[in-house]
Amino acid sequence: VTALTLLVPGPAETRNAEDPDTRDWLAELYRPASPSGVRLNFVASINGSVVGEDGSSESLSGRIDRKILGVIRRHADVILVGARTVRREGYAAPRSARLAVVTRSGDLAGHRLGESFLRPLILCFEPAVRRVEQQLRGVAVEVVPLRSEVLDPAEVLAVLHAHGLASVVCEGGPSLAAGFLDADLVDELCLTTAPKLRAPGVPLLPRLTGARGAALTQLLTDDDGYLYARWAIDGAQAAG
Ligand SMILES: NC(=O)c1ccc[n+]([C@@H]2O[C@H](COP(=O)([O-])OP(=O)(O)OC[C@H]3O[C@@H](n4cnc5c(N)ncnc54)[C@H](OP(=O)(O)O)[C@@H]3O)[C@@H](O)[C@H]2O)c1
Repeated sequence: VTALTLLVPGPAETRNAEDPDTRDWLAELYRPASPSGVRLNFVASINGSVVGEDGSSESLSGRIDRKILGVIRRHADVILVGARTVRREGYAAPRSARLAVVTRSGDLAGHRLGESFLRPLILCFEPAVRRVEQQLRGVAVEVVPLRSEVLDPAEVLAVLHAHGLASVVCEGGPSLAAGFLDADLVDELCLTTAPKLRAPGVPLLPRLTGARGAALTQLLTDDDGYLYARWAIDGAQAAG
């Protein structure tokens, strides 16, 4: 039995993580403030590495982290990831939301998009559209060309909105997430801290340029020492 404790906001409340009602409790706790917006979702070691010993986030994550990941995904219309994350982690599309992948090169080697329940969107810098179409021949995807050679988060968001996808969860990697933060397009960061120290092969948000504040709106912990935080990001959308 694993206990899961809500610390913030108080008073503290503990649930059995295995209890079937706990998923509904978590779903309420993780309900986004607005039906549209951008959430980042990451797991990192104490010292800020987003990859563990296997070179992916898999070895940092745990059973309850995966449960919370599922809860966050169910509140989303679309899960957005970068192509490098797809190449490193394989990335199977979730059942409850569409998957959108951004790519400049069109290289999606190692993808598992064929297993998708909902048709994935591939947002691709225009010159690489043919490469994507060749790589994904026979896989049901929708390829949308992007105009900007330097990743433009506002353009990506406009494409998602044009597809009726308003509630966006960006699961990384760090480059894509930093782009959204720098563009002031992020409302919230859901950050799991794993009770591990790992060589920071891939650091969380190394390329962030601007400074901004954040407010802790929720904190959970479990018997294994994981911390599950929700941070509201200051200044979101202030710069338009
Ligand atoms: N712990 C966690 O929660 C977590 C979550 C996700 C990922 N990760 C780890 O993070 C690492 C990957 O992160 P990353 O920061 O290196 O990369 P990333 O954020 O996954 O990918 C960024 C992507 O942006 C694409 N891009 C650049 N310019 C573009 C443009 N003009 N138009 C469209 N797309 C454009 C690039 O595509 P091309 O590559 O095609 O040029 C690149 O793959 C992996 O090691 C993964 O395991 C950890």
